[in-house]
Amino acid sequence: MPPSKSTLLSVILPVFFAGMIARPPAFDEYALRLADRVQSANITAEVVSEKVEQVVHSSGFRFFCVYAAVAMVTFLVVKLYKAFTEPLAIYCNESKIAYFVDGPSDGKTAQERVGDFKRARRFGQLPPVYPNGWMSILRSDELKKAAHKFVHVAGKNLVAFRGESGKAYIVDAYCAHLGANLAVGGSVQGECIECPFHGWQYRGSDGKCVKIGYAEKVPEFAKIPTYHSCEVNQRIYFWHHAEGKEPDWEVPAIEGIDDGTLQYIGFTVCELDSHNEDTPENGADVAHLDYLHGPRSFTGHVSFSDVSWEPHPTEKHVAVLRMTSNPSKLLGIITVPRETFQIDQVGPCFAHFNANSPLLGKLVLIIAVTPVGPMRQRIVTTGFTQKGLLSFYIGKRALAEQYYQIEGDLPVWANKKYLRNAMLVKEDHLIAKHRRFFTQFYSENSPKYDPYKESTEW
Ligand code: FES
Ligand SMILES: [Fe+2]
Repeated sequence: MPPSKSTLLSVILPVFFAGMIARPPAFDEYALRLADRVQSANITAEVVSEKVEQVVHSSGFRFFCVYAAVAMVTFLVVKLYKAFTEPLAIYCNESKIAYFVDGPSDGKTAQERVGDFKRARRFGQLPPVYPNGWMSILRSDELKKAAHKFVHVAGKNLVAFRGESGKAYIVDAYCAHLGANLAVGGSVQGECIECPFHGWQYRGSDGKCVKIGYAEKVPEFAKIPTYHSCEVNQRIYFWHHAEGKEPDWEVPAIEGIDDGTLQYIGFTVCELDSHNEDTPENGADVAHLDYLHGPRSFTGHVSFSDVSWEPHPTEKHVAVLRMTSNPSKLLGIITVPRETFQIDQVGPCFAHFNANSPLLGKLVLIIAVTPVGPMRQRIVTTGFTQKGLLSFYIGKRALAEQYYQIEGDLPVWANKKYLRNAMLVKEDHLIAKHRRFFTQFYSENSPKYDPYKESTEW
C-alpha cells in the first residue's frame, strides 16, 4: 500500500525544517569527510572519545537530533490533527476476521483456505434470502452529483445515479435497446442516464427513454424499470418487495443528521457470507453478549444488564432493544458511568443505535445489513455525534468499538448452519420472539435459496 499523504508529510516536513535549522552539509561532502575520518583513525580510548566529541559537535549530528525531534513533533501533530478531524474509515479483512485465515499455509493461499471453508459449509434450512423492506445501498457521499454507480442488491443489477439537480435515482442496469450495462461507461445527462452503446437517454424519475440521438422518433414503449428510492440520514435506500408492493413505511429521519446539527464521524464496512436475518437476530440473543462481546472494548471488559428486546407497540416493522452497560474504565483510568443504549431495528435491513451520555454526548449509529447476494451481506455502519472536537474523537472510538463488536460475531455468522428448530432454553425466549417478528418481512414470492442446487457463485 503506498504511504499516505500524512506519512509522507511526517517524513518530508522534518527534513525541510531540520535543513533550515541545522544547515546540513551536502551529502557527498559528508560522505567524503566520514571516509577520511575512518581512514585516519588510530583506535585508542582517547581517539574514540575525541571522535565521539567531534561527532556530537558536528553539524551532521545536530541535524540528526533536530530531524528526530521535528519528526516526532510533526508525527504527533499530524496524528492528533487526524484523530480530531478525519472521519473513521474501516474495511473488514474478511479472511482474517471471519475465518481466522491470515496468509498462506499448508501449501495453500489464504484465498484457497477460505474457499475450503466456504465449500464445506452446511447452510441448514434457510429462511427466504431477501426480506421485503428498505435496504441501504450507498452512503450519500459515495454518489456525487452527475455520477453513477453499479449496485448489486437483492439479486438485482441496478444503477444508482445522481442527476444534476442533486436528486438520486435507481433504475435497472440494462438498456432496453440492446442490453448494454448503463453503469459501465454510461453518463449522467441532466436527470437522465445515457447508455454508452448508442446514446439512448433514460429519465431517472420514470425510466422512460427521452432521447435517441440518431433516431427521428423515440418509441413510446422504450423504457427501463425504475425502483422506489429515498435519501435519508445521508444514505440512499432502495425498496425491495417480492410481490412488487409499494412501500408501506418510511425510513425515519434522525433529527440532526440531514440538517447538519450533528457531525459525521465516519463509517465501517464488512462483507461476509451470512443470512440477512443472522445480524438482527443477534439483538435478541442476550446470552451471547457475555461470550462474544465485551473483552475487546477500549473501556476494558464491559458487561450489560437490563437487556430487553420487544416489538414496538404501534410500528409493527420496528423492534426495540434496550441495554445498560455496567460501569467500566476508559483507558483503565476514567470511570465510564452506567449508560443505557437503545437500538431500534427498523424493518429487516437496518437499525438505529442511540446513546446520550455525559461522556459521549449524543451518539447515533446507523447499522445497515444489505443482502447483496443470497448469502452475502454488506454491513455498513455510519456514525454521528453532537458537534465538538472531543465528541468527534470519542464518537470515532465508539464507532470503532461497535465495529469490533461486530467482528466478534462475524466468524459465527460466516460459518453457522441455520437451525430452523433451534434448541432454545428458557433464557433464549427472545430469539424465538425475534424469529416470529421477522416473518412479517417474508411473503409468498420471497426468494428461497437452495445451496445444494445452486452454486454459491452469483
Ligand atoms: S444498447 Fe443502449 S443504446 Fe444501444
Ligand atoms: Fe453480537
